[in-house]
Amino acid sequence: MKPVRITGFLVSMMLVGCAMNVDDRVTPGDDRVAPERNKLVIAHRGASGYLPEHTLAAKAMAYAQGADFIEQDLVMSKDGHVVVLHDHYLDTVTNVRDVFPNRARTDGRYYVVDFTLAELHQLAVSERFTLSDGAKEAVFEQRFPLDRSSFRITTFAEEIELIQGLNQSTGGSVGIYPEIKSPAFHRGEGKDISAAVLKVLKSYGYAERQSSVFLQCFDADELLRIRGELLPALNMNLPLVQLLGTEPEYQAALTPEGMKAVASYADGIGPSMHLIVEPDSVANNLTTTNLVQLAHDLNLLVHPYTFRRDLLPAYVADYDELLEIFLNDIGVDGVFTDFPDLTVEFVESNL
Ligand code: G3P
Ligand code: CA
Repeated sequence: MKPVRITGFLVSMMLVGCAMNVDDRVTPGDDRVAPERNKLVIAHRGASGYLPEHTLAAKAMAYAQGADFIEQDLVMSKDGHVVVLHDHYLDTVTNVRDVFPNRARTDGRYYVVDFTLAELHQLAVSERFTLSDGAKEAVFEQRFPLDRSSFRITTFAEEIELIQGLNQSTGGSVGIYPEIKSPAFHRGEGKDISAAVLKVLKSYGYAERQSSVFLQCFDADELLRIRGELLPALNMNLPLVQLLGTEPEYQAALTPEGMKAVASYADGIGPSMHLIVEPDSVANNLTTTNLVQLAHDLNLLVHPYTFRRDLLPAYVADYDELLEIFLNDIGVDGVFTDFPDLTVEFVESNL
């Protein structure tokens, strides 16, 4: 993952001349986003607390549970298809070792970009696991069992068709929240993932600010390129979200100057929840940062990740308490969650 470089932001913005008027961007309260609920429930990799992440089953379940937006992490195949997987590796969510035992690179990893879509379709997808002495161990033991039933890798287009199909058949209006993964890695492999993702989005009608989509990325330079070059060239204009991690390279973005730079090209931020409440906080005596205030003062939406009932910070006793702190006390605009059902229930009971 390419680090965020704030000095790079400023120089790049001058070069591409893409600084935006804040009033042109999406602001909290726009009726485009979930008119009935102003706190967005974003299904993180689908209803991934219940079914293997990024499978169509997990996405359908998230839809049925009432998520406002459903997330897609995106990488590319050897033959240029955009597929929905969190990593540009295959070895922690599929049986690639069994099906293609000789296709690992010298680092022992199996790269999505080394496989055609037809080959990817031969793989079975499972719950995320680690390998311990050759044996698989589920990352989340209580979730869907490993190697049960039948799940496949899907393309971005297939997933959009599922969500748009459900919107038609149920009369719903669920949006999509795609993330461009590792643009620098893909460039090194001869692939322009951002251009490919935008092409799919446009072909399915996501081209305007009012479309039900947020496009997210950790790579600030890539978001600047999307805002300044790719979107105008395609006659598109989409809301962009700058993801922020806890790693040192994101620290500059957390300052007033850095956040101002983000606000010149993005409509929101997607920070780790630990950038808002210190993870070693103690119950009833939280250490919070000024990140949400800083972002809201610049009309940036704030959608932190990742809210999991089965991986709670030590400072809360249960999942509802975590939601109470972030959604009600601190006032974030939505959350990425593995448990859309619990989050929808909380939000609706707090309307
Ligand atoms: O995109 C928001 C959140 O999903 C970022 O973390 O690693 O789960 O993609 P990750
Ligand atoms: Ca993501």
